[in-house]
Amino acid sequence: MIIKGKYQTPNAYMNCSNMKKVQEISNSKPLLIVSKKMMVAIVGLFIFFIAQSQTAKEKMIPGGKKISPDLFGLFFEDINYAADGGLYAEMLQNRSFEYSPTERKEWHPLSFWEYITTGYSYGKISVQTNNPVHPNNPHYIVLDIEHIYDKEGGVGIKNFGFDGMVVKAGERYNFSMFAARLGTKPVSLTVSLQNTKGKVLAADSFSASSGNWQKYTATLTPNENTDSATLVVLATTEGKIAVDVISLFPDKTFKNRSNGLRPDLAQLLADIHPKFIRFPGGCLSHGDGLGNMYRWKNTIGPVEQRVEQRNIWGYHQTAGLGYFEYFQFCEDIGAKPLPVLPAAVSCQNSGGTWRIGGTGQRALPLEEMQDYIQEVLDLIEWANGPVTSAWGAKRAEAGHPAPFNLEYVGIGNEDKITPEFEQRFTMIYEAVKAKHPEITVVGTAGPAPDGEDFSKGWDLVNNLHVPVADEHYYKPPQWFVSNQYRYDGYNRRKAQVYLGEYASWGNKMQNALSEALYMTALERNGDVVRMASYAPLFAKKNFTQWKPDMIFFDNSHYFLTPNYYVQKMFTTNQGDYYVGKVINNNSSDSLVAGSCVFESKSGDIVLKMVNTGTTQKIIKINLSAFGKINPDAIKTELSGSADAANSFENTTAIMPVTAAFKAGKNFDYSLPPTSVTVIRIKTK
Ligand code: AHR
Repeated sequence: MIIKGKYQTPNAYMNCSNMKKVQEISNSKPLLIVSKKMMVAIVGLFIFFIAQSQTAKEKMIPGGKKISPDLFGLFFEDINYAADGGLYAEMLQNRSFEYSPTERKEWHPLSFWEYITTGYSYGKISVQTNNPVHPNNPHYIVLDIEHIYDKEGGVGIKNFGFDGMVVKAGERYNFSMFAARLGTKPVSLTVSLQNTKGKVLAADSFSASSGNWQKYTATLTPNENTDSATLVVLATTEGKIAVDVISLFPDKTFKNRSNGLRPDLAQLLADIHPKFIRFPGGCLSHGDGLGNMYRWKNTIGPVEQRVEQRNIWGYHQTAGLGYFEYFQFCEDIGAKPLPVLPAAVSCQNSGGTWRIGGTGQRALPLEEMQDYIQEVLDLIEWANGPVTSAWGAKRAEAGHPAPFNLEYVGIGNEDKITPEFEQRFTMIYEAVKAKHPEITVVGTAGPAPDGEDFSKGWDLVNNLHVPVADEHYYKPPQWFVSNQYRYDGYNRRKAQVYLGEYASWGNKMQNALSEALYMTALERNGDVVRMASYAPLFAKKNFTQWKPDMIFFDNSHYFLTPNYYVQKMFTTNQGDYYVGKVINNNSSDSLVAGSCVFESKSGDIVLKMVNTGTTQKIIKINLSAFGKINPDAIKTELSGSADAANSFENTTAIMPVTAAFKAGKNFDYSLPPTSVTVIRIKTK
């Protein structure tokens, strides 16, 4: 459509104020004045053409509907030692001497450390706070080395890591430590990796001469494998020295990032190809009181300046895996970051009040809300702002001048919908919407698939026109089968759904099957369900607060659950169109379900079929909606008895098997009992 007039530019007829400018510049009467009515008509036509081309695309795939491009992702929460002692590759525990009895009654600044003297050397150790490396990191150790007995002697400390440290012969481990000389003489130090018998596997020495805090580094390369190494820092000359933030990282981290992630565990997440990652929690985000709400600004910058705190799940959080590392990891694996910020209220179960009905929610005082809202806005600037902006500059300083392209921000986590919550959520949401309309805010709809907080949460989201609401539920497998039609009835004109946390109670095949069946329904409803993520993700052996989980690990091994495999089969086979009437199970058998998606980028058709029942089922496949297909397809199948599960002892009891498959335009597929099958067929 062309409107003739002087000084025509595409923008000149985009809005009225521009039209006015054109008139002023031309200083003459334009040939045609665009009235308000015409503008409405133009915009209307524009929308019509867009809609038409959309329909045209859908017509190419009859029965196809556009679904969310971000449907399946991951939810990472620092629960079950998922971060410290888990994905975060730091090998020492309590590296900054910040453990405290407020976290666990038996913990203190020297927990997981042992004071040692060798030979007949002696001295003193104390915990001090008067001149720390940084005020955010108040505790440090002072070693007063009064007497060194002989050349071999020393006074120092030993760290046991998270239940021992796994080291491999010939691999490099990077040690660092802050130290400040307190006496008149420099202090010589030896750092070594030792086995349980005290045999030195690797060692290095240096002299701490500066009277100010200074970082010292060394590289240790052990000559033996062990899974129970300790790290020993020994002062070998007399004097007095302060030490803090003692750290040991494997040289090999995921993508070789410094302050990085354990490569084997990070790779498992990369293999999933999640479209997004929600982090850092869960309940961890809102904390159990105002004291340990997750405040993102405390988790960026040099690690010695981050604020450590009590983790809601009953352990310690160094914040070494902080917002920079989360965003970097998302970028490294091609996932969109979805940070969840507290809605300025804590968990309703704060103080253990779940026992008496969740009355523990605490709210930030209203006079602190402007600062808090600014904190939320600053995150968006930190993630996306130019390096010339105050917070964009901090991102650049940390080594990432390019923006992180943040699209989503979650506000709140399954909070109780009290008047205090509503007021604060509304204030935060309105401020983000006004300043950053480009950001999609995700609201919260309670900790259950129904009930008071669920309804009130949804009402609030819809009243405020929040684009997405986060639903959570953990249920028995049968629930997922019975509720597979839940989203078919959701109103497409209201907010979309983020199913941010869900799991069937267990890690057996039957649980994974029920999740797979439900995921076919999520695909079918991918026009209203925008995102979904299983929860929780990681669980460390002997340090698990919550089951089921997707990946179980210890310091060197892991095993993958059937639930992980199901997630991977879906996440690595996402499409952008859902195509109905392709898979016909020929009955109203609710134990069997299937979905067909089309991935326009590759031109591949993906069929997913799930049989939660214990007998074989015949499924009719009709691919006549598509043009030519390549009969040489690939099939991946996960099957096993309903009770089967993997374990540390048997990591491969349940595993997917991939094989070539001959596809036709119309074919019958025999679906084995208790199985999930994905078939990928090329059309190009
Ligand atoms: O996923 C574990 C916990 O379950 C999450 O922290 C919380 O949001 C939910 O209650």
